[in-house]
Amino acid sequence: MFTMLILSILIKTAQAVFPEPRVDNPFVGTTSYLNPDYVGQVKKQATQTAGSLGEEMAQVTTYPTAVWMDRIGAITGTSADGTKIAMSLREHLDTALAQKLPGKPITFLMVVYNLPNRDCHALASNGEIPHGGIERYKTEYIGPMAEIFSDPKYADIRIVAVIEPDSLPNLVTNLSTPACAKAKSSGEYVEGVQYALNKLHQISNVYTYVDLGHSGWLGWDSSFGPTVTLIADTIKGTQAGVNTVDGFVSNTSGSTPVVEPFVKEFTGSPIRSADFYDWNPYVDEVSYMSAMYDAFVAEGLPSRIGMLVDTSRNGWGGPNRPTVASTSTEVNTFVDESRIDRRPHRGGWCNQIGMGIGERPVVEPYEHFDAFVWIKPPGESDGVSEADIVDPDDPAKGFDGMCDPNATNRDNPQYSTNAMAGAPHAGRWFAEQFRVLVENAYPPLSPGQL
Ligand code: BGC
Repeated sequence: MFTMLILSILIKTAQAVFPEPRVDNPFVGTTSYLNPDYVGQVKKQATQTAGSLGEEMAQVTTYPTAVWMDRIGAITGTSADGTKIAMSLREHLDTALAQKLPGKPITFLMVVYNLPNRDCHALASNGEIPHGGIERYKTEYIGPMAEIFSDPKYADIRIVAVIEPDSLPNLVTNLSTPACAKAKSSGEYVEGVQYALNKLHQISNVYTYVDLGHSGWLGWDSSFGPTVTLIADTIKGTQAGVNTVDGFVSNTSGSTPVVEPFVKEFTGSPIRSADFYDWNPYVDEVSYMSAMYDAFVAEGLPSRIGMLVDTSRNGWGGPNRPTVASTSTEVNTFVDESRIDRRPHRGGWCNQIGMGIGERPVVEPYEHFDAFVWIKPPGESDGVSEADIVDPDDPAKGFDGMCDPNATNRDNPQYSTNAMAGAPHAGRWFAEQFRVLVENAYPPLSPGQL
């Protein structure tokens, strides 16, 4: 008995003093953090919704979603005027420790999202730090977060950090937008990403994944190569070089499917020649990220890197989902009748009509994929649908025409934006969208008591 006691004290001490060494895939053999702020929001709507739909909504509380550190105030959980509005980063991590099962690691998925001049090609998620504010980013944002992550009390939490969605991809395709041209010429995005990677990689229980947009954005041959070059060079410029990152992530907050099951077999014109693909060879995230894996390994990154895909909103279920491939022999008709992605145009990104919750979070779904994860919490808006509404907690958030249900797609005016009406600011709860996401979930969510 006494020996057992001594042994267990010794094991506990060893665990505290020697945190586990960095692992290849942080998602293997873990449980995952459930964010009580998010769960609370979902529960509230589920309780107010009668019948089986309410039960399906309640199922969503069982899946992990990312915590977005989208402002300096998110670290302390306070609004611009200092009022406490959400859990602080320490409260999240303390709760993760409380949720952790003995002897089993827990993953804490979070998003680093606060670069100066953020969201340079759009207005919906403009950030609080203007162009030129790289020192603030380093000292008031990354520095304090890294300090918290380094607290030995959190050494048993595997912190998975998604690094700055959309930032480097915007430097590949959107340089004709003046804000993106500035982000490029000043070097602030690259410097910020490198700083974040340097700081976070030093902490052995923090795992970093760099954003790669999605197949419908960067899949074209003319963008794919430059994306790989820019991002590989950025990584090589960090202190630990190619060893800095644990992998890459695609489709953050997106709705591009992991797999398009019915569009691949077609004789006649190539699939990529259809208007919907516009010569982009990648129709889905699995083919795109598999090719990205090969490209980054060819650039000298270690073969242990793994890919993540955000599957929180790319399910495309519901009544409009095709169940078989079209029999049409005309490529456009074939693609339009076969594709599960029901957007009029693949560039639509704001509160897309018809999208549903996608694959549930899963570990190693395909070779070289570390996990499918839910990064965008289903039910949180992508951007406000009307002008002249200010978010008091985050006044930098703007109105982007791509979120206007009555406008046309900015870059492709022959298509509609496909945005839902009645949307609040980015990150705010959008009850109607949550309802549709649950109804259109694929695989469907099944009603039942929890
Ligand atoms: C918003 C963030 C929010 C995140 C998750 C982003 O589009 O800008 O404020 O936390 O989405 O909903």
